[in-house]
Amino acid sequence: MPTVAVILAAGLGKRMQSTLPKVLHPILGDPALLWVLRSLPTSVSAAVVVVHSGKEQVEGALTQWQQEGLLPCPILTVDQGEPLGTGHAVQVTIAALDRLGATRALILCGDVPLLEPATVARLAASEGVLLAMDLEDPAGYGRVLQHPDGALKDIIEQKDASAELRAIRRVNGGAYALPWKALKLALVSLSNDNSQGEFYLTDAVVAVGRQVPIAVELCDPAELMGMNSRKDQAILQALARNRVNGRWMDAGVTLLDPDTTRVGPRVQLSMDVLVEPVACLEGAVTVAAGTRIGQGCVIRDCTIGPDVEIRAYCVIQRSEIGAGAKVGPFAHLREGSILRAKVHVGNFVETKQTTLHVGAKANHLSYLGDAEVGERSNIGAGFISCNYDGFNKHRTIIGKDVFVGSDCQLVAPVTLGDNAIIGAGSTITQDVPPDALALTRAPLVVKEGGAARLREKLRAKREKS
Ligand code: UD1
Ligand code: CA
Repeated sequence: MPTVAVILAAGLGKRMQSTLPKVLHPILGDPALLWVLRSLPTSVSAAVVVVHSGKEQVEGALTQWQQEGLLPCPILTVDQGEPLGTGHAVQVTIAALDRLGATRALILCGDVPLLEPATVARLAASEGVLLAMDLEDPAGYGRVLQHPDGALKDIIEQKDASAELRAIRRVNGGAYALPWKALKLALVSLSNDNSQGEFYLTDAVVAVGRQVPIAVELCDPAELMGMNSRKDQAILQALARNRVNGRWMDAGVTLLDPDTTRVGPRVQLSMDVLVEPVACLEGAVTVAAGTRIGQGCVIRDCTIGPDVEIRAYCVIQRSEIGAGAKVGPFAHLREGSILRAKVHVGNFVETKQTTLHVGAKANHLSYLGDAEVGERSNIGAGFISCNYDGFNKHRTIIGKDVFVGSDCQLVAPVTLGDNAIIGAGSTITQDVPPDALALTRAPLVVKEGGAARLREKLRAKREKS
């Protein structure tokens, strides 16, 4: 019984006032369409996304998500051409669904991101269901009429509805599970004889309902809310934040100020993680037990071990941090940074494509790019790995138990052997063997009384001018 999903995403999304297609606007860091696709249960064998405006961007995003392994099933796209209504949008998928051997169609909107996976799974397992909601203010939606036994009788769009029908508060949520054969028959005989001159999917749904009963299932309006404007996006983000944060707090995570903390849908937190206010964790982030994330940190696509302390205002992306490490405040770990267990990276330290092995330290004001720092080695304040010669990047390899004094530069490619010591203020341009002491020093000049004499000279000069 292959159930194939159809995701409607061809609409322009004019009210977003954007060059980005509506379905690619993010909620907690993940685009709306990705939320929808990730909600599909494994029982769905494939999904057909109907695209048109911003097609290249949507297809580009789909390819990227596929490569990152974020999609639960094979996805293909169909270009609707000029969008002529929701019914037309499903009509253009007929060939694709037939090819996929669909027996049931699960129809969702690409701009309705917060349907719970459990709701979608229930829908996907049903023969004929329409999701509806009861709204205080039903304006704009299609009104749902039911038979005495509750089955769907009719759906009347707002613009086609009499004042009497407009008083109905039960509205169509725009998500359906329908037998494909019956739906296909209904789709091919659709007309656009209505106030908007559109081909309404709802007319096809009602026609299917004349063959097989369609249950009207009530759903939480928050799950069915669509994103049509930037204001909707803000409301959806707040709803998503409450949902995600509430779940993590129930699972034993402390969020000191959940209203200002953004935790994306692909973040995994463990028990006794503590997140301070205004932190933002998005993308694929995993945080192990007992770790503390400081105020104002921005963390994207990272794996963070247990009992790590990330102090305030760090920016960390595509990095790994091992158990018991201490980072920040104000550290910047860029892509490919690997901090093994018990590493310390302190304030105003930037790392990129760099591994710090167990117990290594770089505590103050340094840049470590394309570098490797051995176990227990200490990098002094003001260190710079000069990794770029204007054309190519080169690596800096620092052995175990090395001591690099303050204010040193290593001009890559360069290697420091185990147990080497580099004197403060040195510029190292060639390899240093194990156990060696290396330093570059201009001779020190001390002139007794020189400061007083210089001041006198300068004062006299000022008085003359
Ligand atoms: C639709 C329903 C309405 C329901 C509401 C719920 C119809 C006729 N009406 O109305 O009963 O209450 O959803 O939100 O179906 N789309 C396309 N191609 C098109 C037209 C739309 O892909 O030609 C996509 C849109 O991008 C959007 C979705 O379909 O994701 C819904 O379209 P929209 O125009 O918003 O439908 P409504 O008029 O709101
Ligand atoms: Ca709509």
